[in-house]
Amino acid sequence: MLKFPDNFAWGAACSGPQTEGRFNKCHRNVFDYWYDTDPQAFYGGVGPDTASNFYNDYQKDLPLMKEAGIKHLRTSIQWSRLIADFETGEVDPDGAKFYSDLIDCMLANGIEPYMNLCHFDMPYELQKKYGGWEDKHVGDLFANFADKCFELYGDRVKHWFTFNEPKVIIDGAYLYKFHYPLKVDGPLAVQVTYNINLASAKAIQKFRSRFNDDDHTVGIILNLTPAYPRSNEPADLEAAEFANLWCVDLWLQAAIKGTFPERIVEILTDDGVLWDASQEELDLIKANTIDLLGVNYYQPMRVQAPAISPKSLQDWMPDIHFDNYEMPGRVMNVDKGWEIYPKALYDIAINLRDNYGNFPWFVSENGMGVSREERFLDDKGEVQDDYRINFIRDHLKWLHKGISEGANCKGYFLWTAIDNWSWMNAYRNRYGLIRDDIHTQKKTLKKSAYWYRKLSDSNELDA
Ligand code: BG6
Repeated sequence: MLKFPDNFAWGAACSGPQTEGRFNKCHRNVFDYWYDTDPQAFYGGVGPDTASNFYNDYQKDLPLMKEAGIKHLRTSIQWSRLIADFETGEVDPDGAKFYSDLIDCMLANGIEPYMNLCHFDMPYELQKKYGGWEDKHVGDLFANFADKCFELYGDRVKHWFTFNEPKVIIDGAYLYKFHYPLKVDGPLAVQVTYNINLASAKAIQKFRSRFNDDDHTVGIILNLTPAYPRSNEPADLEAAEFANLWCVDLWLQAAIKGTFPERIVEILTDDGVLWDASQEELDLIKANTIDLLGVNYYQPMRVQAPAISPKSLQDWMPDIHFDNYEMPGRVMNVDKGWEIYPKALYDIAINLRDNYGNFPWFVSENGMGVSREERFLDDKGEVQDDYRINFIRDHLKWLHKGISEGANCKGYFLWTAIDNWSWMNAYRNRYGLIRDDIHTQKKTLKKSAYWYRKLSDSNELDA
């Protein structure tokens, strides 16, 4: 048995846009808009309209989560649902009541809320009018929205996060065309990277002027994909250095230290694509850093020197500096196409311990998406998802090793509680401890839910 530290937080993560379904018809986020205009862009033509129906079902769903041992739940407040007028900040009464009731219901079920403020869901109106994060003004509007959330719910929600996986916005919306607005524009991606870090700092500034007690914390959730080089050849090492700077350290350092790594600034300057930043903004970022880091970890990166070297600086993209490497013998989650490499969680823990002053963090997402899970239903209608139990156990063993070597990890939140809708995969990949039969809307605990409850109740892993 592996014992975890006292007060270790066991939880699960989800997001508003992936669970709630469409309500408050006056506003759409970019995914609602995209689905309305091009439903076939979504897997099986299934969009965010119903999702797992959390808006209507949360009073039934939360007791199920409690039964699955979830004691902390991260979800998000959708900007497009809470705010009626983005410029004045006037709230929508239906949205405001829903989130308030939801928080009360979580607390009544003994589930501590962790609230995130952006899970990719830019209001469409702001995307159309300003280009979303492309315009720094939207960062000011975002900070006002954040402040409204702190005002309305800060009495009951102690842990706040500005963004979930902001790098996915960059990859999806500005580089590789899997999120709206589907642009491919490397230099713009660099500017948006900066603008999002600035927007996060502006929201944190609002947080600081509202709360100055030790109970409230503010953070950001980063998807960390450590990059491992193909070999120790200098060109491969250089490729991995860039990939780590661009994908990991740029985000970590901005959030934790309020600065950008000198080396990435140097490279982007040499490439002629460095962001536009004023001294005043850089001071604001420096002055408004996080208290708690969320780390989403699913898979590592394997990289090698770019085949054509140097690649052209025209049409700049970050991957002029590295190529992906399909390492022979990698263990894969075949359904999802992602590598399974639990040791990276230990490497992340040690990186945070050694290079970021042992900063407090928690695993804010980790999980295994499996398709056609009905294959594993037994006679009683319970999904026998031993693959999920094994996946979690393998990751927790490495996490435990990191903690026993001094890493400052405060908790583990599984993705996810109830199977939910996702951007490109709709319901293809099921991640939940609880199965959602989307035809009957029946929700049933899987085998992993009972296992997870034992883990969270005992604080001990059966390793
Ligand atoms: C994470 C996101 O990166 O991956 C979630 O924060 C997403 O929103 C999850 O659902 C799994 O991805 P997918 O596409 O397999 O559902």
